[in-house]
Amino acid sequence: MPEDIHFYEPASGHGLAHDPFNALVAPRPIGWISSRSRDGVLNLAPYSFFNAFNYHPPIVGFSSIGYKDSVRNAEETGEFCWNLVTRSLSEAMNKTCAAVGPEVDEFALSGLAPKPPGLSRCRT
Ligand SMILES: Cc1cc2nc3c(=O)[nH]c(=O)nc-3n(C[C@H](O)[C@H](O)[C@H](O)COP(=O)(O)O)c2cc1C
Repeated sequence: MPEDIHFYEPASGHGLAHDPFNALVAPRPIGWISSRSRDGVLNLAPYSFFNAFNYHPPIVGFSSIGYKDSVRNAEETGEFCWNLVTRSLSEAMNKTCAAVGPEVDEFALSGLAPKPPGLSRCRT
């Protein structure tokens, strides 16, 4: 039915109570980006704007609204790990989305133990 169609051109506004863009692709998995600061502090943060982008060569990535710790760490060290949040990890994931200072180890904050990076380590 034509009345069920909502055309959304961001530059023209959406006319709704909430910006619908965040829900356009739903449900979607949550990527959990782990990284390490130049000073060695571990960082962990959920990013739902993430995906695998290519097969050969394998390319994965995430997109940040602004310059956050995960982005800075990936730039500074040239590496990040790309993990997938599963249902049993959702409570721990929630603890890692707070805006804490870069000196806070978010593995410790969420009660998780990191594994040494192996095949999941990504180079920027
Ligand atoms: C389920 C979920 C999905 C999120 N997805 C994104 C995202 O795609 N992009 C983004 O910039 N922030 C996203 N956030 C917010 C970040 O996780 C949050 O800003 C976090 O503090 C960033 O951590 P960092 O500074 O250690 O990178 C998401 C939060 C949650 C709970």
